[in-house]
Amino acid sequence: MEELLKRPTKRRGFYVEMRLLHKNGRQQQQLEKNSCFKYYKWVLWFSLTLYFFSSYFISHNKPIPLSRTHFSNSKSNLPSRALIESVNTTSLQHPTRGALEDLKIYVYELPSKYNTDWLSNERCSNHLFASEVAIHRALLNDDVIRTFDPYEADFFFVPVYVSCNFSTVNGFPAIGHARTLISSAIQLISSQYPFWNRTHGSDHVFVASHDYGACFHAMEDRAIADGIPEFLKKSIILQTFGVKYQHPCQEVENVVIPPYLSPVSVRKTLEKAPVSGRRDIQVFFRGKMEVHPKNVSGRFYSKRVRTVIWRKYDGDRRFYLQRHRFAGYQSEIVRSVFCLCPLGWAPWSPRLVESVVLGCVPVIIADGIRLPFPDAVKWSDISLTVAEKDVAKLGPILDHVAATNLTIIQKNLWDPDVRRALLFNDHVQKGDATWQVIRALSQKLDRSYRRSEVSVQ
Ligand SMILES: *[C@@H]1O[C@H](CO)[C@@H](O)[C@H](O)[C@H]1NC(C)=O
Ligand SMILES: *[C@@H]1O[C@H](CO)[C@@H](O)[C@H](O)[C@H]1NC(C)=O
Ligand SMILES: *[C@@H]1O[C@H](CO)[C@@H](O)[C@H](O)[C@H]1NC(C)=O
Ligand SMILES: *[C@@H]1O[C@H](CO)[C@@H](O)[C@H](O)[C@H]1NC(C)=O
Ligand SMILES: *[C@@H]1O[C@H](CO)[C@@H](O)[C@H](O)[C@H]1NC(C)=O
Repeated sequence: MEELLKRPTKRRGFYVEMRLLHKNGRQQQQLEKNSCFKYYKWVLWFSLTLYFFSSYFISHNKPIPLSRTHFSNSKSNLPSRALIESVNTTSLQHPTRGALEDLKIYVYELPSKYNTDWLSNERCSNHLFASEVAIHRALLNDDVIRTFDPYEADFFFVPVYVSCNFSTVNGFPAIGHARTLISSAIQLISSQYPFWNRTHGSDHVFVASHDYGACFHAMEDRAIADGIPEFLKKSIILQTFGVKYQHPCQEVENVVIPPYLSPVSVRKTLEKAPVSGRRDIQVFFRGKMEVHPKNVSGRFYSKRVRTVIWRKYDGDRRFYLQRHRFAGYQSEIVRSVFCLCPLGWAPWSPRLVESVVLGCVPVIIADGIRLPFPDAVKWSDISLTVAEKDVAKLGPILDHVAATNLTIIQKNLWDPDVRRALLFNDHVQKGDATWQVIRALSQKLDRSYRRSEVSVQ
């Protein structure tokens, strides 16, 4: 249930538009109240006063519980709520509520070796695979979706951080231990709680934010050879990896999630240069571009796409191409019109999120990639897709767009809702990345043991 629009108008009376999203088919019901102002004035005033009093006494720091019953369809209640929320939306409207079907998630409390021990390395909660940390944290901080009673839970979140064991040699995450760590966590929960065994884990949720997701390997051939571990095959995997074609690493119930990017770092960058500011770089890419990529078991890094970009466009005045790491690269993205997002070893890339949230049009070069949260982000409206085979024609393709529909794409891209959907916050905000995950789970309620029980009764 959610209210989308409330605004007092200049006319006498309040113009209240409410949308009630119902369980079955999201029926929309709109209420307009223009008349009866004199009568409502007092009712409003009274409910307002009552509301502030009661909420004050209920709790100071907890969000006000807004359950379905709270509305109780009493008409005098509706306008008063709407009015209050137009006064201060952020403090009163609970963000996780709304169209989420009263969904409940139980978060297992595992020994710290499975998760929080890794946070002793600060990088663990900030690097591009850190959605495994961010989703866990957001769920722990939520007191509407999260339940402490596993018997009323629709889903069970198993918080295991597998991407934080950074190799001392090259600094990349060593995920060789991922399978053992997760398997050990499942061993633990299945012996101590009854919930895993009753569904074989099909209402249990894991994050696999590494290159080839639930296959837990950075190289595709090895990932495919290893496959998804048997013990995860019935569960729901939140993974960054996704393609539109059949692939062994997504043959499991899954939700494609965005790679992690710190909202704080984004905010800092945008304070210095707003999304709609001046963009003096036409085409930007910073990252690994090998002139002679190595043949690793029959595959070349980035399928040689980045090699072509470097060979063809280094020195072209429209292109700003850099091969070395630079900590301040966000300030370059916010100065750029087009940001190239070519595949690496895996099709997805952190640049997708970085470009979108910093207002640079992502140019996706990764055939068949499946992008996160298509219900919330209309990717075809905010990005460009260039086929891998056409990478040598990037120059004319981008020139053409710049001369035709660039401003339309930028206008779509700069919509704050798009930015919000791709960022994970410490506290779930309506429409943010964790909220989108929860929404995706709410479409999988057929896997919930509790719901199936209810429907049998
Ligand atoms: C709304 O409430 C929040 C938290 O109580 C506060 O930080 C914010 O300034 C308020 N906004 C307005 C517009 O009053
Ligand atoms: C971290 O990774 C290394 C290399 O893969 C591995 O030897 C080690 O066991 C891992 N550490 C833990 C605690 O799993
Ligand atoms: C779940 O099943 C496993 C394997 O059959 C068994 O060892 C374990 O004791 C069961 N867990 C519970 C809580 O009954
Ligand atoms: C790449 O290496 C594989 C063996 O690992 C070989 O079969 C293949 O011919 C090589 N490809 C090229 C283009 O060199
Ligand atoms: C912009 O134009 C390109 C072709 O030049 C097209 O592929 C793309 O879909 C268009 N995008 C929008 C949002 O109109």
